[in-house]
This record gives sequence, C-alpha cells and structure tokens, in this order.
Amino acid sequence: MSQAQTSTAADQAEGVNGAGEMLRVEGLLKYFPIKSGVFRRTVGNVRAVDGVDLFVLQGETLGVVGESGCGKTTLGRTIIKLVEPTAGTIVIDGTDITSFKRREMRQVRRDVQIVFQDPYASLNPRMTVREIVAEPLRIHGLYRRGEGQRRVEELLRTVGLSPEHANRFPHEFSGGQRQRIGVARALALNPRMLVLDEPVSALDVSIQAQVVNLLVQLQKDLGLTYLFISHDLSIVRHISDRVAVMYLGKIVEVGTRKELYQQPMHPYTQALLSAAPIESPELRGKRERIVLQGDVPSPANPPSGCRFRTRCWKAQEICAEEEPELVPRAGGAHPVACHFAEVMSPLDLAGQARVQQAAHQAAQRAAAQSAAE
Ligand SMILES: Nc1ncnc2c1ncn2[C@@H]1O[C@H](COP(=O)(O)OP(=O)(O)O)[C@@H](O)[C@H]1O
Ligand code: SF4
Ligand SMILES: [Mg+2]
Repeated sequence: MSQAQTSTAADQAEGVNGAGEMLRVEGLLKYFPIKSGVFRRTVGNVRAVDGVDLFVLQGETLGVVGESGCGKTTLGRTIIKLVEPTAGTIVIDGTDITSFKRREMRQVRRDVQIVFQDPYASLNPRMTVREIVAEPLRIHGLYRRGEGQRRVEELLRTVGLSPEHANRFPHEFSGGQRQRIGVARALALNPRMLVLDEPVSALDVSIQAQVVNLLVQLQKDLGLTYLFISHDLSIVRHISDRVAVMYLGKIVEVGTRKELYQQPMHPYTQALLSAAPIESPELRGKRERIVLQGDVPSPANPPSGCRFRTRCWKAQEICAEEEPELVPRAGGAHPVACHFAEVMSPLDLAGQARVQQAAHQAAQRAAAQSAAE
C-alpha cells in the first residue's frame, strides 16, 4: 500500500472515532540470510516479510491472517524488534523506533508486549506463576516487596485466575490457564498494545472462545490496542475491527471486517473464506470449498509477479510479469493486490471459482495442445 493510501484510510478512520495511530509500519522487510559452504557465505535470503505497510489505531484490533509460513510471526516479532528489521520504518505512538537500541527499547517494551502462541513453551517451567508474572516488573526495576505481590495477585484476578495459583508451577495448569498466565505477564507493565501471536491456536477448541472472550473484555476494560495474528479466519472475524490477509511475506488484501468477510476480492482471501465455517445454521452446507492446490511456495524463491499465481485459478500472463499493487480496485473501496480482483459473495465463492477454475484448466490444455502441434 502506498503511503498516501494508508494515510487516507487512517485519516478517515480518525475522523470516525477520533483515535490516533498506535502503530504504523512502512516498507517493512525481514530477510533471513541462507548461509552455505565452509565460509558460511550468504547464498540467498528467506524473505519472510517482504514489503509490509500497515497501521493500527489506538484501541482497535487489526487481525493478520494467512496460512502457516506466510510470515505472520516474523511480522509480529519484527514490529517489536525481537528480531531486527532488514529495512522499513516502525512508528509506535508517533515515535520512530526503527533504529532504537536495546536501552531505548526498554520504554517501548513497557508499552507494547507480546503474547506467544505456545503457552507450554513460553513459560519457564522452573519458575512459579508469581515469579513469571513478576519478572517484567523486576526487569524494569518496578518490583517492590508487598506492593509487587499485590500487583501479581491483582493481575491473576484480572485474567480470571486466583491469587492462590501464584505459588504453583506452569505444569500444574491446563493450556487455557497457562495462556491466562502468559496474558497476566504481558499486562504486568500496563502496556497499551499487545501483539498476540496465535494466542489460542495451541488450545482445545472449547477453551479458545474463553480466552478470546477474556481478550475482548481486557481490551474494553484497559483500552488496549491489539495486533491479533492467526491462521484461523473465524477467530480473526470474532475479534478484529479490520483484517489484513498475508501471503508469502506480503499483505494481499486489507479492509474492515465487513469488507473482508462480505466482499472478499482477492482470490486468496476468497479461498481462505470458502474453507472457514459458516456461523449461520440455515446457510451451512450451501457453500463448497475452494481447495487451494499445493503449498505456500518457498519465501527464499517467491514466484515472479504476483506471488499467488502458482495457486491461483484466475492467473493470466500479466500475473507472472507484473506485481499487482495493493490499491482499491473497481467494485470495492478497500485495497487489494490483484490484477483481476472482483467482489464475490461468500456463498457464491465456490460456484464461481469452479467455473473459473474449469475455464483456466481448459485454456491451459488448449495452450499445451497448440504448443505440441
Ligand atoms: N529465524 C529464522 N531463520 C530463518 N528462517 C526463518 C526464521 N524464522 C522464520 N523463518 C522463515 O520465514 C518464513 C515465515 O515464517 P513465520 O514468520 O514463522 O510464518 P507464520 O507465522 O506465518 O507461520 C518461513 O519460511 C520460516 O521458515
Ligand atoms: S494477480 Fe493474477 S495470480 Fe495474482 S491473485 Fe490476481 S488473478 Fe491471481
Ligand atoms: Mg506463526
């Protein structure tokens, strides 16, 4: 998305609810070098995040959705500089933190905290819950005896646990409870924003809703801003104000929840949506799935032009030659990176896609035949 477009969208949103920007990211790249040989020379790059622009307003939730390997975790971690960006700009609450060093990041870390996907791996098994929740306070020199204990107990209550849990160890808790401990820890420093990286993906489906509801309640009570990362469109729909769809290091479509779910325009979004469960019982079973062929290509060697073209049933010659820009397209107001974007109703998705897929296959067969002749 060009700067002008993000600004316009941000200005419009600001006009509506008066909230300023909590986060703005421009041209963000994160490449991991691939080393080889005795001299460990760099022979290529894994382009995990490859040119991302986005903004999140104060108090809103931006959902980031996409298949595994699309770069969502790297995006979340780069934004808070747990990994250093290769290029681009990161602005948090009006301050450009891109070149901040460790010491300057301390204040930023108070404002922006991360909750990790796996509550089993992210909590130190040798520490008690009290030690885990108090650790950020200690690191920042804010832990005082008595007062610190009361703060830990208050945090446990805030996330729906009991102060009696404070002296136990992580292995004594269920997955949902452990994630609550992770959230309590993230809240210890009174942050303004949370980066939530698949916070419920490792939990049983029955527990997921409870933790999501807790996050919704906390956002309301504490006025938090969320960047909510997930591969699960239904969960993202439940919690997000706006949604960004990510594919192979790039955002391919971004819009309000309504725009994304009622007027998906990018073939990738349409395919993801066709696989998501339908909430309304009377509409269930009336839609078939668009099955995405193959896996996400390697981010070390992404396809030329549009990165989705190797799996797209609408791909044409231009798709291999020209990378589609993330801009509003005819028929919709929100930005979409596709040369042939068009609105589709979620219920029509599979029907139309099948017709197009058949036409695409017929064209390929005809091309192969004429090449053979
Ligand atoms: N530290 C790393 N070193 C090298 N490659 C990495 C590293 N972290 C992630 N990647 C690669 O970057 C790509 C995106 O990964 P990730 O951000 O974890 O995606 P997602 O969270 O969407 O599943 C993957 O191909 C992954 O293998
Ligand atoms: S630009 Fe072409 S290949 Fe990419 S999503 Fe659109 S139609 Fe498919
Ligand atoms: Mg991930």
